[in-house]
Amino acid sequence: MDDAPLLEIKDLHVHFHVYGGILRVLDGVSFVVHRGEKVGLVGETGCGKTTTMKATLRVLPMPPARIPGGQILFQGQDLLKMRDDRLRRVRGRGISMIFQDPTAALNPVFTIGQQIRAVVRHSTEKRLSRSQIHDRMIQPIREVALPDPERMLGSYPIQLSGGMRQRVCIAMALVADPKLLIADEPGTSLDVTIQDQILRLLGRLVEEKDLSVILITHTLGIVRQLTDRVYVMYAGTMVEVAGTEELFRNPLHPYTHGLMEAVPRLTGGGVSDGIPGRIPNYLHPPPGCRFHPRCPHVMDVCRQEKPGFYRVSGDHEVACFLYRDKERSA
Ligand SMILES: Nc1ncnc2c1ncn2[C@@H]1O[C@H](COP(=O)(O)OP(=O)(O)O)[C@@H](O)[C@H]1O
Ligand code: SF4
Ligand SMILES: [Mg+2]
Repeated sequence: MDDAPLLEIKDLHVHFHVYGGILRVLDGVSFVVHRGEKVGLVGETGCGKTTTMKATLRVLPMPPARIPGGQILFQGQDLLKMRDDRLRRVRGRGISMIFQDPTAALNPVFTIGQQIRAVVRHSTEKRLSRSQIHDRMIQPIREVALPDPERMLGSYPIQLSGGMRQRVCIAMALVADPKLLIADEPGTSLDVTIQDQILRLLGRLVEEKDLSVILITHTLGIVRQLTDRVYVMYAGTMVEVAGTEELFRNPLHPYTHGLMEAVPRLTGGGVSDGIPGRIPNYLHPPPGCRFHPRCPHVMDVCRQEKPGFYRVSGDHEVACFLYRDKERSA
């Protein structure tokens, strides 16, 4: 079963039950990561990228979140049905995640060393000697190019710059030697130069360690550089997937077109400059294709039916009625 995907999300639905009603955020998201693959996930702020990844790690707050449907298979096992003790083992050694905000990910009352030691202990069943633990703590600190690793271990998060904290988070995500690393807009809260350094570092580590990765970022140049395949997400639905070069050369979905055109104006806050209008209200999402209120090519059918995925070539699929007649069988 080595050909089975490492991660396979099938028809995932996530709702948030809030005071005003039900936010129907994820509406049938499907997503695959093969072993050793680097996959990009792009889409405007608010389109459900983080929600998808948090559901995968089972760290969504429930309530308000509910998962009325879908499967999240990691190495063939449904994480949504997994018992907590097994799930804890998957987190860390199976999947680890770097969150957007490094400050929130670190506990201010413990030193970096104490926090990394906890991850080291948690990530192995073997009893390790003090020096083995120490080696395992120092190595990832070195890998993320933090200066003076010994002193770093004795520091509290507040003593470090934002960039250093982000590096510590990357080190912590690597401690357990995960099979899949999810990097959710790493460095977005930092200034652009530091953000660029962080993304380069991540790119180097991913290459060196040959990790499977899901990279979420607004920096499409980095996506193009680092990933093998890209998914485009809009308003809680996947709208297009293709090999990275194919997607950049031949974007098909009207939303992807907008995203690509917005690139020079990307500020990190969203891409609304490139596409008139905004993400719909999830209390009352538009019926049919969720993009239809913003789509320059909208047809009657788009307002009534949700488009399925049409395969237009090889691994290029697009959820848009414009391509209904162009489908090729694989
Ligand atoms: N805990 C929550 N309670 C209510 N709504 C939430 C919660 N978490 C996320 N959402 C909503 O889900 C939508 C998608 O958010 P998110 O997954 O963070 O998007 P992205 O990561 O693509 O920017 C947003 O409208 C957001 O307000
Ligand atoms: S399905 Fe219709 S509304 Fe949706 S992107 Fe395609 S043409 Fe536009
Ligand atoms: Mg997010």
